[in-house]
Amino acid sequence: MKANIVLLPGDGIGPEVVSAAVQVLEAVGQHYDHKFVFTEYLIGGSAIDKTGNPLPEETLQACRSADAVLLGAVGGPKWDDPRASVRPEQGLLGLRKGLGVFANLRPVRVHPALIEASPIKSDRLLGVDLIVVRELTGGLYFGQPKKRDWVDGQQRAVDTLEYTENEIERIVDLAFRLARQRRRKVSSVDKANVLESSRLWREVANRVAQRYPDVTLEHVLVDTAAMRLVSVPQSFDVIVTENMFGDILTDEAAVLAGSMGMLPSASLNGQYGGLYEPIHGSAPDIAGQGIANPIGTILSAAMLLRYSLGLEQEARAIEKAVDQAITEGARTRDLGGSLTTTAMTQAIIERLD
Ligand code: NAI
Ligand code: MG
Repeated sequence: MKANIVLLPGDGIGPEVVSAAVQVLEAVGQHYDHKFVFTEYLIGGSAIDKTGNPLPEETLQACRSADAVLLGAVGGPKWDDPRASVRPEQGLLGLRKGLGVFANLRPVRVHPALIEASPIKSDRLLGVDLIVVRELTGGLYFGQPKKRDWVDGQQRAVDTLEYTENEIERIVDLAFRLARQRRRKVSSVDKANVLESSRLWREVANRVAQRYPDVTLEHVLVDTAAMRLVSVPQSFDVIVTENMFGDILTDEAAVLAGSMGMLPSASLNGQYGGLYEPIHGSAPDIAGQGIANPIGTILSAAMLLRYSLGLEQEARAIEKAVDQAITEGARTRDLGGSLTTTAMTQAIIERLD
């Protein structure tokens, strides 16, 4: 098959890990006889530097017409002035919104050989295999009003947590469909004891659950979920939740896997090609040193093959090669080893069969 893939390397280690994933995709393309055509566009801080805009119109248009988008990361100290009117993250939020990718899938698996790399006790980690379905285009990050004003002589800041029934329904439904391909359990995470939006979330989740009698639904308060993620992570299969809750819980879940550098994500809506990115940021502390762990981005490329191009066998081949490389001791520095980004990428490519 032929596919057009837009690359958005972004800032910091973004270009390093995207280039690693492209090498893996090219190897897969050769092996299975697919032609992947890559075109690169600007986003984030580097886009601000060159165009003044964190999401140039050209970038958004290219992403809308691509079969899939692979992104590195955006941001860094250079653009960190909180009073600046343009910020790199606006590029990412604008892209997610512009593509309408309302579902962010973040699988967390713990490789048996990496259990030691996690600060969590090893008996808590055996067999962890969960996926967080984070709502991505609504909730607290987008609700209006979102503003600053002055009240009684002092500044006031306002963010709004809002959801419509439709927004909740489509994300919860996706979580149930995923659960059917897994262990048939959905944990819907909310704060229904306090938040009205969470009470609506619960009602809608219960309604959706009636269409999936073969799947178990449980409601978990977000604070309890945070605790359970590190005490009994094996108790989760599919977690579905609001935008900010999902943001926080997935960073927490990343600790289970041993490093931020390990975890991939897919952002989908069924209409456009889908947006794929590692869950980590631009890691300015190690940028430019060639030591970033490329696995999160490489596994994101595997998800791209699976969800946007329907290439399940090829996706599995990448996942298997990553597993095998780790089993056989390949480690970047974040995992306690000394392989460079390039050497880790080679170790994975050599194990593609
Ligand atoms: P970060 O994820 O960039 O880094 C956190 C820690 O994990 C750092 O010590 C870093 O070296 C390490 N790390 C992350 N990815 C790694 C990898 N692939 N290999 C080895 N080590 C890795 O988060 P941080 O430091 O909070 O944010 C840095 C910048 O990234 C900020 O400007 C932030 O706004 C931005 N950011 C961007 C995101 C995105 O583009 N999706 C997501 C999160 C943060
Ligand atoms: Mg985050």
